[in-house]
Amino acid sequence: MKAVILAGGFATRLRPLSCTRPKLLFPICNRPLLDWTLERLAKSGVKQVVLAVNYMSEAFIQRYGNSTRGMRLFHSKEEEPLGTGGPIKNAEGLIGHEEPFLALNGDILTNFDHSELMKKHIEKGATATIALYRVEDPSRYGVAELTKENCVVRFVEKPPRKEAPSNLANAGIYVLDPEIFDYIPSGRQVSIEREVFPKLADEGKLYGHDFEGLWIDIGKPEGYLKANRLLLDTEIKKSRLGKSVRMESTVEIKDPTVVGDNVVIEEKSKVGPYAAIGERAILGKGVRVQNSIVFPGVIISDFTSVKGAIIGEDAIIGRRVKVGHGCMIGDHAVIQNNVTLARRVTVCPSRVVSKGVLAPGCLM
Ligand code: GTP
Repeated sequence: MKAVILAGGFATRLRPLSCTRPKLLFPICNRPLLDWTLERLAKSGVKQVVLAVNYMSEAFIQRYGNSTRGMRLFHSKEEEPLGTGGPIKNAEGLIGHEEPFLALNGDILTNFDHSELMKKHIEKGATATIALYRVEDPSRYGVAELTKENCVVRFVEKPPRKEAPSNLANAGIYVLDPEIFDYIPSGRQVSIEREVFPKLADEGKLYGHDFEGLWIDIGKPEGYLKANRLLLDTEIKKSRLGKSVRMESTVEIKDPTVVGDNVVIEEKSKVGPYAAIGERAILGKGVRVQNSIVFPGVIISDFTSVKGAIIGEDAIIGRRVKVGHGCMIGDHAVIQNNVTLARRVTVCPSRVVSKGVLAPGCLM
């Protein structure tokens, strides 16, 4: 099997953390999201992966090179962003016309069995088959209406909640027949959801396959934190400590939590539940971190509390600081002693913050 992964978005909803790394390289339980996806694809029998890249493409080349986990890896670079359909057309030469292939939104964490979707696609002889996930509120997604035979009769992108034809949401995982290349114009931005799928539905060539299991879109901070929690629950389960972790005996690690290599945690700190502490981080005395993602190299000083937040690489958080729910601290930012960032405050990379902020906002 071949797979193309859309990896070139700007991830504006995850700024400021996405100012310094592409979304697919955000760590989940201390490993980039893309590592989890590639592992899954290799298990599903994929032999060749095309990474459709644009924003920060060098980061992918540097990390993965030309092969990984027994799969050949190609980087298909766009001159300008081509949306969700254009990158597939752009990779036509690399994908070829021999057989159906997988196409994935790269910002999804799932334990989906891709080979099952391929099987369904071939059974129906479809041009495209979409994996569908049942959601409570379909208004944020592309929504499909299916016949009993799983043919999509209608595909509507982000319908108002009351007008949604079902609660089956586009999971961002497709099998596409090479015929799809005839439906995607070349050399411009194309939305596969808005321009291609509705046309295929009209022609009776679009099928759906609903599934249950782990599925989450990490595109927004809540989704990113939730993905981390879900993996901690399903993969890590208890707690996992990396190599050369130095920890005082009075430290409490609450399951499930992951602590990376070379982390130092000083006395009476409580870490977890649902914390991912990146390598080389230093946590001082009496620190409290829960339901949070701490990137590598962060320093969190004595008696500081971090709850429901994301702290970017090499940030320095002072003493007796409070970082609350939904806060995102950019790489290398400095939060000075005694500052409170109450909720949903984002801090740009390298910014120094000396005063507390109690309302949601962005510190540029
Ligand atoms: P936001 O700016 O926060 O909406 O994020 P995004 O730019 O990643 O957009 P979105 O979440 O809709 O993207 C879904 C998937 O498509 C992600 O895996 C993106 O990396 C990818 N993607 C979005 N736009 C492009 C593009 O122009 N080129 C490529 N190659 N991939 C894209």
